[in-house]
Amino acid sequence: MPDLSSKTAIVTGCASGIGAATLRRLKADGAKILGTDINAIEGARLCEEVGAEFAEQDVADTGLWPQITALAVDKFGRLDILVNNAGAVSQHSIEDVTDDVWARTYAINITGTMAGCRAAIAAMKANPGGPAGAIINIASTSAMAALPSDVAYCSSKGAVRVLSKSVAIHCAKQGYNIRCNTVIPGATETGILNTAEQHMPGLKAAVAATSPLNRLGDPAETAAAIAFLASDECPFMTGAEMLVDGGALSIHPGF
Ligand SMILES: NC(=O)c1ccc[n+]([C@@H]2O[C@H](COP(=O)([O-])OP(=O)(O)OC[C@H]3O[C@@H](n4cnc5c(N)ncnc54)[C@H](O)[C@@H]3O)[C@@H](O)[C@H]2O)c1
Repeated sequence: MPDLSSKTAIVTGCASGIGAATLRRLKADGAKILGTDINAIEGARLCEEVGAEFAEQDVADTGLWPQITALAVDKFGRLDILVNNAGAVSQHSIEDVTDDVWARTYAINITGTMAGCRAAIAAMKANPGGPAGAIINIASTSAMAALPSDVAYCSSKGAVRVLSKSVAIHCAKQGYNIRCNTVIPGATETGILNTAEQHMPGLKAAVAATSPLNRLGDPAETAAAIAFLASDECPFMTGAEMLVDGGALSIHPGF
């Protein structure tokens, strides 16, 4: 297991699914963690259970981000890891998506992720010993193979992939020891997938049946990839993408 015992982390969307699994995993690996979520009741409950700090946060509120990173630095003395995990689906095709749905989905999935990267880099630059840290952004296999039923989700997650690369190269060129990588989960048993199932009954079973591993992912399996990228085990990985999809995007159509 990666050793994160000298690390401090912020995990957004920590109240559920992949964020909750990441909270547990980074804690088990030794990190001090500030979990955040728009769902204050469940987020605070889970953080207390795990032994993490909690702050209520709407990641789309870009003005709040510097306060969130400042809180982590205030609590722990430095910021080493940011996991930009919070995300939302919208379930609208190109013909029925409204401006409001489009704007809110983008505000959470891409603007929130950008603002998190910006605030984290400012905090990581001030770390004792010089600029250092690891940012992990969460995209989706929907950023690589589109769902016609959710144009805003797919396209905003596509933007997350290139955002990560731009952040990674900027930090490298500036000489900061700050890496930025993307984890790309496939269909994973969480709240987002349950929301999609409500709109498309039978979706989960259908997706599991077409998966080469014949099942959905467990959030802990995505959290393991996040923990690896957050650790010092992969200093030459930046701007990279790690697929955690059970082989779903690797299979040739028809097989
Ligand atoms: N589950 C999947 O199949 C799957 C696949 C690919 C990518 N992802 C991505 O994984 C990430 C985590 O999603 P999940 O599957 O664990 O879903 P989830 O619904 O279980 O968890 C999402 C969490 O984000 C929080 N959240 C939503 N909007 C927020 C906001 N504006 N500010 C702060 N917190 C907010 C929710 O309260 C919730 O706790 C998302 O970015 C999602 O797009 C999930």
